[in-house]
Amino acid sequence: MTRPRRTLLTSRLTPRLISGLASLLGLLGAALTALPPLAPAGAVADGPCAAWMDRSKSPSARADALVRAMDLDQKLHMVTFGNPPWVTYYGTAGHVTAIPELCVPDLVLSDAGSGVAGLQIATTVFPSGVAQASTWDPALQRRLGRAIGAEAHRKGINVMLAPGMNIARTPVLGRNFEYFGEDPYLASRTAVSVINGIQDNPVLADAKHYAVNNQETDRMTVDARVDERTMRDIYLPAFEASVKEANVGSVMCAYNRVNGPYACENRPLLTKILRRDWGFDGFVVSDWGAVHSTVPSVKAGLDLEMNVFDFPAQLTPIFGAGSRYYGADSLKAALRDGKIKPSHINGMVRNIVRPMFEHGLFEDPVKPGLDPYLRDATTPEHLAVARDVAAEGTVMLKNRRDLLPIDETETGTTGAAGGAGGRTIAVIGWAANPIGAANATSGGGSSHGSGLPPRVVSPLEGIQRQARAHGDRVIYVEGSSGLDARLAASVADVVVVVATDGSTEGADRPDLGLRPSVCVAVFCSAIPIEQEAMIEAAVEANPRTVVVLDVGGPVRMPWLDKAGAVLVPWYGGLEHGNALASVLYGEREPGGRLPQTFPRSEGQVPFTQQQYPGRDGKAVYSEGLLVGYRWYDAKRERPLFPFGFGLGYTTFRYSDLSVRRAGKGASVSFRVRNTGDRVGSDVPQVYVAAPRRAGEPPRQLKGFEKVELQPGESTRVRITLDRRAFAQWDPRRDRWKVTPGRHGIAVGPHSRDLRLRGAVRPRG
Ligand code: BGC
Repeated sequence: MTRPRRTLLTSRLTPRLISGLASLLGLLGAALTALPPLAPAGAVADGPCAAWMDRSKSPSARADALVRAMDLDQKLHMVTFGNPPWVTYYGTAGHVTAIPELCVPDLVLSDAGSGVAGLQIATTVFPSGVAQASTWDPALQRRLGRAIGAEAHRKGINVMLAPGMNIARTPVLGRNFEYFGEDPYLASRTAVSVINGIQDNPVLADAKHYAVNNQETDRMTVDARVDERTMRDIYLPAFEASVKEANVGSVMCAYNRVNGPYACENRPLLTKILRRDWGFDGFVVSDWGAVHSTVPSVKAGLDLEMNVFDFPAQLTPIFGAGSRYYGADSLKAALRDGKIKPSHINGMVRNIVRPMFEHGLFEDPVKPGLDPYLRDATTPEHLAVARDVAAEGTVMLKNRRDLLPIDETETGTTGAAGGAGGRTIAVIGWAANPIGAANATSGGGSSHGSGLPPRVVSPLEGIQRQARAHGDRVIYVEGSSGLDARLAASVADVVVVVATDGSTEGADRPDLGLRPSVCVAVFCSAIPIEQEAMIEAAVEANPRTVVVLDVGGPVRMPWLDKAGAVLVPWYGGLEHGNALASVLYGEREPGGRLPQTFPRSEGQVPFTQQQYPGRDGKAVYSEGLLVGYRWYDAKRERPLFPFGFGLGYTTFRYSDLSVRRAGKGASVSFRVRNTGDRVGSDVPQVYVAAPRRAGEPPRQLKGFEKVELQPGESTRVRITLDRRAFAQWDPRRDRWKVTPGRHGIAVGPHSRDLRLRGAVRPRG
């Protein structure tokens, strides 16, 4: 067996070593590589580029014309990364240098999901992927994507390596925070909206990590063994929707193997499914260092190789040999030996430049340099989007006797008048103060938003601001001794205790505990601050305690019964503190609903070692379709909090369900009424139960809509279910089929509160 190759980002040993150097390199390299600007690749009406700069032609025709005009060296230049590589080129993840004589602009790629992140500075750190999915709000997700794309362009970047859309197969998945939860339908909707937003700019999005990249343990080598139906039903739909509905410009093949071959040399995935079945006409870029061969990768359908560095030969014992499988020498040798054909190379280049034409990258070229690198890309509008996503993505899991919002709470120990201020608010926790919050508002790894220069609004600052406006007083303790937490909590009217968990790329979480971490550049590592005892102390001392969890995925809650309220804002980005305070004070609602189930304990979903993390290099997905709530429903297990769950500050009634056949699908409508006395939003969810003989999980999310209603107001919600909502993948016929018969329809505010029931017999 060949030794696993590693990248700097993924090696367990290297992050500490290079963490301090990394950000320095970004700046230093930027300064050293500040080359004179190349000729701008603008529209050239009658110059040598006229044939492909003519916007009246289709992107495909323009791509063909350009490829015809290129010599072999120019073509080979396009399919691998340029020097200087990785962070040394203005903190970007990688680039392909412009070819000015052909008017081809630089292709500059950067991370990603929570904004223009990685080693970029002066950009908006938005709430992370799991928070974006928690909003269940496609319009807001599109605004978010649009803001991210705009910042990218301003920074000299035209490919955002986002969104990540792998499925939360296990609750401990280290990169869970980057993704959109456990359900393929919700993940698809979120991915489509974010991609559309990014590509509203002359910037390509990138659907990653394709595919079945659902664990960080052994992520560079593990072979995910998964049957075709499970793959099509659970692990691929978000990618499929990204291609078919959002016309995503690029797709990133993953580190892992899928049913044998590595994802980046996996013909069934890259050619059969992606290109033939879905009609993808953009490019496949490798994850950084995920390429393992030249000829098999070319033949499988990999277009662009990326890696962290072009390692000198002396370093091959550490990082593996042949870090450039798509180097000109290797590809020329493969051509010479007749192992690949010129048409392969033409196809690869065509795949790369076609979406560049389609999305305006030639007309609106970027040129990285010191100026864009240092430029402040944030705007007041983008900060407002960050705030909106943070509040709309915050999930309220508990609110005993309407403890929240604070402004309406009764008075506590200090005896102030209810609703009129004068309260004492105790804020507790390292994660609440500016230093802790700077580390807790984004997960670790390539998507980490450094927030440099530092301007994260911490929970403490946000609450102080609101408290001042409401005439309340704030006291703060770090809470790490437990004793200070107890003391502060016992003298307060309301307690807000903030805890965090430092999830990071490159490692799954060992359990569902709370481990804070500190981050240097994109590298975060755990620090020994005790938080569970802090929460215990606070909730014991004062039942009017709100526990705030700045986490990347589900965590255990042994203190839950004693807590007054629980909020999960996930990793909330730069505006976290402002959004949190406005939710606490009821200026805004906690608008989020869980995109994944919270288990009662680590062991509730019983993975065998063979299933996860795997044995003999293989992780066997023998649970099939029973992922997330599908498993809990099939096994009649009660989770801690179910998929789709989340409370607001008002209540809703559901009535008048109507289900009828419409085309090859169905039309579902029902009434939702706000029965409380505050304006509020709800997310009615539609689940479909296939006939038993289809062998599907008991029910699956197939539609939802976020509605906002005034007190007493009601609305009729109409949701269209297309044929696919009733179809299962038939591996024998290689297509989707609808099992004839009665499909149940269940509607409610979450997966375990389905108040309206009906059925339909789709035509199929
Ligand atoms: C990650 C990708 C990321 C890339 C470039 C890899 O380690 O898996 O998600 O886009 O690095 O930074």
